[in-house]
Amino acid sequence: MVVVSGSNSRALAEDLAMELGWDHHLLEARRFPDSEGYIRIPEESIDAVRNGPVVLVSNTFPDAGIVETLLLLNALKDVRSGLTENLKEIGPQSMDDVGTGLIVAIPYFGYSRQDKRFRPGEAISAKTIGKLLSQHCDGIVVFDLHAPAALEGLSVPVAFTSAMPEVANHLKENVNPDFILSPDKGAIDRASSVAEAINLPFSYLEKTRIDAHTIVHKAKNLDVDGKIVAIVDDMIATGGTICKAADALKSQGAKEIHAACTHGLFTGGAISRLTNHVDGVHSTSSLVNSRAVISGGPALARGVREILEKL
Ligand code: R5P
Repeated sequence: MVVVSGSNSRALAEDLAMELGWDHHLLEARRFPDSEGYIRIPEESIDAVRNGPVVLVSNTFPDAGIVETLLLLNALKDVRSGLTENLKEIGPQSMDDVGTGLIVAIPYFGYSRQDKRFRPGEAISAKTIGKLLSQHCDGIVVFDLHAPAALEGLSVPVAFTSAMPEVANHLKENVNPDFILSPDKGAIDRASSVAEAINLPFSYLEKTRIDAHTIVHKAKNLDVDGKIVAIVDDMIATGGTICKAADALKSQGAKEIHAACTHGLFTGGAISRLTNHVDGVHSTSSLVNSRAVISGGPALARGVREILEKL
């Protein structure tokens, strides 16, 4: 049983392997000069990926990650099916089929926010990517997916795993907040689970997104005067949601404000914008960034164990 990774999730794959007590193998994933991807399972990893279940940790973000994930899954599927014939006649040219057990664990599922058809004619992108992946593996682990309903009804089992237990521990140990806030209705379940885990009061804001960069919150009285508040969300992209929520908290007397999320996308100068509005930014390691202080390994391991029970 091994955990493997390509070019985008090595550190998290190593953490997952450690959590599971499995080995980690790095697969070859590089770019041709024209930017197309090349992937290969090294000869020394062929036996390992055929020996029991294999978990590929790979992000479907940015777009190149989708192609790389599909190519890695196909190469793994071929090797596991015994299809090793090659023009240079290196190694055995065919082997037995080792059967099912190919799992993909996706730390950050790109396109997760296009989970519905908001206007006629739109692609439901999250569903399309989910369907594509399901054709090339036996199970999928997704980490704090924005809207799990988008992946309902796929042909393979899907485990929706969450880092909120680790976010709660991290906040308790490093921030010691007095209050947890969800910046919109969509994050209520996640943020309230953090509040419950560390026994803190909780509230939420009602957000209206005018466009990608403009957010409005409905006025609400929050009991935060003199308190340390942690805002918890599934992802931070431009930082607009958090900055607006922080403004509302400050105007009501909050003493210190922290932002915590699973996915730190931090697009277009988000970190410096956030630094002007909050006292700390904390994310998991689903994406590589300077605020990735919470390992996603334990959450991914829970998801992998769930899928293994279903195979
Ligand atoms: C949306 O509902 C999500 O949960 C996040 O609140 C949102 O995607 C964050 O985006 P931004 O940082 O650009 O406001």
